[in-house]
Amino acid sequence: MLPPFSQSAQGMRSSEIRRIMKLAGDPSLISFAGGSPGTSLLPVDIVDELYGALSTRAKRTALQYGATDGYPPLIAEIGRYLGSKGINTDGQGLIVTTGAQQAINLVAKVFADPGDAVVTEYPSFIGALAAFKSYGAETVGVPMDGNGIIIPDLLKTLDKLGKRAKLLYVTPYFHNPAGIIYGERRKRELLDALSGRDIILLEDDPYGELYFDAADKPLTATMKSMSNHDVNICYTGSFAKIFGPGMRLGWLCATPEIIDKCQLAKQSMDACSPTFTQVLAAEFLSKDKMPGYLEGLRVAYRRRAGIMTNSLKELMPEGVGWTPPRGGFYIWVTLPPYMDASEVFQKAFEGGTAFVIGSAFDPAGEKNDCLRLAFSNTPVEDIERGMEVVCGAVKACVRK
Ligand SMILES: Cc1ncc(COP(=O)(O)O)c(C=O)c1O
Repeated sequence: MLPPFSQSAQGMRSSEIRRIMKLAGDPSLISFAGGSPGTSLLPVDIVDELYGALSTRAKRTALQYGATDGYPPLIAEIGRYLGSKGINTDGQGLIVTTGAQQAINLVAKVFADPGDAVVTEYPSFIGALAAFKSYGAETVGVPMDGNGIIIPDLLKTLDKLGKRAKLLYVTPYFHNPAGIIYGERRKRELLDALSGRDIILLEDDPYGELYFDAADKPLTATMKSMSNHDVNICYTGSFAKIFGPGMRLGWLCATPEIIDKCQLAKQSMDACSPTFTQVLAAEFLSKDKMPGYLEGLRVAYRRRAGIMTNSLKELMPEGVGWTPPRGGFYIWVTLPPYMDASEVFQKAFEGGTAFVIGSAFDPAGEKNDCLRLAFSNTPVEDIERGMEVVCGAVKACVRK
């Protein structure tokens, strides 16, 4: 006999992420589904070089348990890196996490009680929505425009919730899935809107380095680096898109009080993040391997995004919109309001392609007139062919 599952397990729904990862991995499909970096672009040679140059002592450290807050040289290197992005870590706490996913999970765990509201953008990252829901929080979406979350809608939502919102979760830099980057003014307006409110701003930034044009780099300046505000910001980043998701490494920078609690929570989750990859990541940063590697990534992703955008322009029927990508991994396509993305998916899937339907990114799980196309991990030679299928599927769903 099986005892009943816990209430939180009973609340878990079949994960869209699992389905996506499975589809993305099916070699017979041209997949625009997973949010994975380009497999052929992963820095195998850099890892070989860094590992080969380690001393036996460092290799032993790499195979041993480590401190819950992270491998000290890596914490120091991440601190230095954040400093180069204008984030002052003095007086802040900083821990290494098992991916940004764990950082989001930790913040959710230490703040969200069952029934609390967590406000997110609409659309929002599926992994974060799943993490908030796993603690019994109610996720409430606020729409975005091309410059970020819409402030009057956010204020209306916060004022009308009828319950306490402890967290606002945003992904301002090359959003997953919306593809947009926040404007300078919108970030200030957001901080002003949250000022004086008892709410944590969870600023998630795994894609900020992946701008296509250096002229956009100033837009990647984080809210965490901005002064003259009183908003409590938890800032998270990741090595997943700038080194390799298999490293399973991210970080969380927040006030020492929050970091202390997160560290306690992390102790019971995984004791420590993988020491093996932390040693490599510390070398990646200290040997200054990242800037050159990122340059190559930006060129490769810009090329993939360009091919996808050209196909959209050429092949999509009237009434379909999308965000022109300026960085990151994604294009968010808006279908005519009567169209159902699941129907489009079915047709595209039969034609040998996959993407993710919009409802997966809706905090309420309902709106389904959008779809997310990831250009990051589709070989250049397959993108046009796959896009012909996707655009053909949309055309086939146009109302006559
Ligand atoms: C917005 C966002 N946050 C967090 C993550 C999770 O990153 P990690 O692989 O470091 O856990 C992802 C991964 O796709 C993401 O898109």
